[in-house]
Amino acid sequence: MTEFVSVLRGVGGHLPSKVLTNDDLAKMVDTTDEWIAARTGIRKRHIAADGETTSDLGVAAARKALDAAGLAPDDIDLIVVATATPDYTFPSTATVIQQKLGITRGAGFDLQAVCSGFVFAIATADNFLVRGQFERALVIGAETFSRILDWSDRSTCVLFGDGAGAVVLERQPKAQAGDRGVKGIHLRTDGRFKDLLYVDGGPSTTQTVGHLRMVGNQVFKHAVGKISESVRAAVGQAGLQISDIDWFVPHQANQRILSAVAERLGLDEQKVVSTVAEHGNTSAASVPLALAAATEDGRVKPGDLVLIEAIGGGLAWGAALIRV
Ligand code: ACO
Repeated sequence: MTEFVSVLRGVGGHLPSKVLTNDDLAKMVDTTDEWIAARTGIRKRHIAADGETTSDLGVAAARKALDAAGLAPDDIDLIVVATATPDYTFPSTATVIQQKLGITRGAGFDLQAVCSGFVFAIATADNFLVRGQFERALVIGAETFSRILDWSDRSTCVLFGDGAGAVVLERQPKAQAGDRGVKGIHLRTDGRFKDLLYVDGGPSTTQTVGHLRMVGNQVFKHAVGKISESVRAAVGQAGLQISDIDWFVPHQANQRILSAVAERLGLDEQKVVSTVAEHGNTSAASVPLALAAATEDGRVKPGDLVLIEAIGGGLAWGAALIRV
C-alpha cells in the first residue's frame, strides 16, 4: 500500500504596519526599554490598526505562503487556523479567511491551543492529509493579542504583539517526497495549570472578551522543562537525534526561554531562530513568523530538518519535526 506524508510547500508571514517600541510602552506603564530587553529580549511589537482583524493578517500570510508554494487559493481544500483571538465567537476565522481568499471547496475550522496552537494545527492537518481526507492544507497561526491585553498591566502588556504566519502542507506519496515531510510530533496539555495563564472572560462565563492574565515567573519555570520533554519525544518518535536538527524554530515568548531550552538540549545557539526582538510574543503566529523569516533570508533551505515547539495557556505544549 502506498504510504503518504505531509510535505511543506511554502511559508509566509505578515506583520501589521503599526510598531510599538519599548520606549512607547514606557510612556504608557511603569517600565523601561532596559527592563523589557534584559528580561525578555523584546525590542518592539506590531499592533493591528483599528478594524484590522485576525483574518486580515491571516489572509496576508496565507497569500505569501501560496506564492512561495507556486499555488493558487483554489488548490487548497483544508484551512486550519490556530488562534485565541478570532474575529468572531463564531463563525470560525478559517471560514472568514476561506471566503476572503475566494475558496469555495473543502473545509476550514479554528483550533484553540493558545501559543502552542500552530504546533497543534500542524499535527491536525498532518493527520487529515496522511489519512487522505484532504490534499492540500493552509495551516495558519494568526492573532490580534493587542485586543485582549490589559494595557495597564505592565507584567503582561509589554510581552505580546499581533501578526500571522502560514504554511502550505501537501499530501505526497513517500516515494515522491523522499525524506521530506512531517517526521515526528508530540502534543501535551495539563489543565491543572490553567490558572497560570488565562483570559478572564468568555461567552459562557462573563459574556465579555476578557483580558489576558499570567503568572509569568511560574509559566517560565514550566516552559523550559516541558518544551525540552516534548522536543525529545518528537525527535525520538522520528527515530532521529537532537544533533540531527538543522534549525530550532521555537515559540518566540522570551529570549531567556529560547536560550535555556537550547542549552538544556545541547543545541548550538547558531541553530536557534530568534525573532523575539522584532515582534515579541505573537502567540500562535510566532512559530510560522519565525520560520518565514528564516526561510526568506536563506537560512532554512530545502532538505533541512526543522524543529518547531511552543508552550502556552492550558497549559498546552508540543513539538514537531519537519524536513522542509
Ligand atoms: N517593567 C518593569 N518591571 C516589571 C515589569 C515591567 N514591564 N513587569 C514586571 N516587573 C517587575 C515585577 O513587578 C517584579 O517586581 P518585584 O520584584 O518588585 O515584585 C519584578 O519585575 C520581577 O518579576 P518577575 O515576574 O519575577 O520577572 P521575570 O524575570 O520572571 O520576568 C516574564 C517576567 C518576562 C513575564 C517572564 O516570567 C516570562 O517570560 N514568563 C513566561 C511567559 C511565557 O512563556 N508565556 C507562555 C506563552 S504566552 C500564551 O500562551 C498566551
